[in-house]
Amino acid sequence: MGTLIQNGIVVTADGSEKADVLVDGSTVLEVRAGIDPAGHTVVDAAGLFVLPGGIDAHTHMDMPFGGTVSADDFLTGTRAAAIGGTTTIVDFAIQAKGTRMRDALDIWMGKADGKACIDYGLHMIVTDLGSDNGKQGLHDMDDMVREGVASFKLFMAYPNVLMVDDGTIFKALQQTAKNGALVCMHAENGSAIDVIVQQALAEGKTAPVYHALTRPTKAEAEAVNRSIALAEMAGVPVYIVHLSSEDALNQVREARDRGVPAFAETCPQYLLLSIEDQMPGKSFEEAKYVFTPPLREKKNQPKLWDGLATDNLQVVSTDHCPFCFADQKQLGKDDFSKIPNGGPGVENRMQLLYHFGVNAGKISLQRFVEITSTAPARIFGMYPKKGTIAAGSDADIVLWDPEAEHVISAATHNMRCDFSMFEGWKVKGNARQVYSRGELVADGGCYVAAVGRGQYLRREARGGAWQ
Ligand code: URP
Ligand code: ZN
Ligand code: ZN
Ligand code: ZN
Repeated sequence: MGTLIQNGIVVTADGSEKADVLVDGSTVLEVRAGIDPAGHTVVDAAGLFVLPGGIDAHTHMDMPFGGTVSADDFLTGTRAAAIGGTTTIVDFAIQAKGTRMRDALDIWMGKADGKACIDYGLHMIVTDLGSDNGKQGLHDMDDMVREGVASFKLFMAYPNVLMVDDGTIFKALQQTAKNGALVCMHAENGSAIDVIVQQALAEGKTAPVYHALTRPTKAEAEAVNRSIALAEMAGVPVYIVHLSSEDALNQVREARDRGVPAFAETCPQYLLLSIEDQMPGKSFEEAKYVFTPPLREKKNQPKLWDGLATDNLQVVSTDHCPFCFADQKQLGKDDFSKIPNGGPGVENRMQLLYHFGVNAGKISLQRFVEITSTAPARIFGMYPKKGTIAAGSDADIVLWDPEAEHVISAATHNMRCDFSMFEGWKVKGNARQVYSRGELVADGGCYVAAVGRGQYLRREARGGAWQ
């Protein structure tokens, strides 16, 4: 009495085969050719790829930032994600300075509860290890791991807001040697960038483009290098979030060539957008492309695609953090440093990666599945429950139509943001039906399930066992 997905091409990170997928309740029961359909509800997937649901390991729903709050909450953001073929997100709870991580976890659980439409995990952003030489904060990290928060993000940027010093980073890294969690680094030299930003503003350079021009790639590369060095000293893996430039990628590659477990993600905006194309320095419209790290020169794009193909980059996430242009982005009308940082993306990641990656011959179909689902599941302690289609896995399944054409536009997207960073872009390949734990949640671009059905995902701290 299950659902039988017949005649599709089942694609995992390991290969693809024509096979049927039998779903029993919320899990996959069997994957093989020729399963007897008797007694099952049959779904015909002829001509479609049967993919593991996408996992976006970097989103910011309902996040207070830059004097405002990101425009998508856990309802609108995860609903848009589902429509785009993403069935799991890992969002970020933020420890406010002077408070405990437990407080932040409770706040973010409250934001997601009753709203999330797909399953969600949480990373913890550590801003403060406490005054007793970090003893309380490090104990709190262990508590978080027991709550299924298997990863932490620390910032080398945003001085006086989120940035922490190297000692704090080093202590947190050392703690993960004991508790098996993974540290994620926002790698940019925030102190140096702050000097450059203040100098630019003093010279009257206030337009959005100066956000990009005041954050050199060397500031990213230096911080990536420092992150990896600190992780090596602590003897633990490290994961660089939203890596944006060739300079930074070179640091990851150099470390990996030496056998160091350094991992990194990039995002569609760095693979596809550039200063030349989106930020000619002509108008305030360019505030739409203010996120951090910033847009880079176009020459970085092929290097990032190459990083994905060669496994020097393991994951593509979105860093979805939308702020509307009509009001929120206007906060920085006279000062680029006051433009809330972030852009919308969670709905379009799979389409963009498929079209500009697979269709363009830059990555294989298996690699597409790996970077959008399997690798984030492994790295963040969700595999094989998430990230693959195999007996026993959650039935998070996307029926992907490789022929479907779609025009990305704010007029039709489901994210609560009044612009798209990819307005008018045509893509071929789109999610037709999306299942989350066996339930049809999106069908032909519409969300069709109950709101709030998403469950909190307790993730396992693997101690680097996934390497
Ligand atoms: O501009 C960005 N990336 N906003 C979200 C915060 C972060 O650093 O990830
Ligand atoms: Zn405790
Ligand atoms: Zn960041
Ligand atoms: Zn982010």
